[in-house]
Amino acid sequence: MNKLHTMALVAMVALSAAGTQALAQTAAKGTTKGATTKVTDADVRQMIESSFTSKGPATVEGVLNQDATQKACSQYPDRSKVPAAVAKKVEAAELKQVKYPADNNWLGDWKEGEKIAQNGRGMQFTDAVGGTNGGNCYACHQLTKAEISFGNIGPSLYQYGKLRGNSQEVVRYTWGKIWDSNAFSACSNMPRFGHKGILTEQQIRDVMALLLDPASPVNQ
Ligand code: HEC
Repeated sequence: MNKLHTMALVAMVALSAAGTQALAQTAAKGTTKGATTKVTDADVRQMIESSFTSKGPATVEGVLNQDATQKACSQYPDRSKVPAAVAKKVEAAELKQVKYPADNNWLGDWKEGEKIAQNGRGMQFTDAVGGTNGGNCYACHQLTKAEISFGNIGPSLYQYGKLRGNSQEVVRYTWGKIWDSNAFSACSNMPRFGHKGILTEQQIRDVMALLLDPASPVNQ
């Protein structure tokens, strides 16, 4: 299959009745009596356009309008196969987009950070437009000993600050990683929280404190 196909499956936009038929037709084109017909990007784009309707913050345009990094990364469904030259280019471009806190205030309140890390709401068709988003960090990371329900797409961040300390270098890297994950590993599965406006600067401060404050349960 191709890149947009995968996106269609994860898109959280509403599916219309007419769209269900278009979906079936595109799927049928993929396998005709045992023979495989090539489904092109144009087919999939058309299928998405006719099958989905925007609802709330989940928009069809949001799925179809890819930025340069998304376009580059979509060429490599297996992220481990991104060529080094492409990765270098993506990382350099994304690093330029990181906005560091102008007031030099890097750490907020870890208690708020924990709530953000636990919160998986936001940007779905059932959410309010312009509402507050969660970070859903636990979906991919272990963070504390107390929370035993976590995903492992990302590495464990338990004792993150205890193990790395909080030198200016570590603090700056961590902020940059949360702001734009792709600045440090091209085509990362981790959302670009700051760059895409998923989390506000204050929310990032709070999540930073969760990772780096010695009093945070992450560092016990
Ligand atoms: C959809 C999965 C996913 C979500 C959600 C996610 N991450 Fe990640 N994260 C990853 C992956 C995968 C990595 C490994 C490096 C990479 O591919 O970017 C990572 C790496 C990191 C790193 C760097 C770790 C290191 O060893 O240098 C930090 C810090 C981090 N994530 C923090 C967070 C925080 C904070 C949140 C929530 C606001 C979060 N992540 C949400 C997938 C995710």
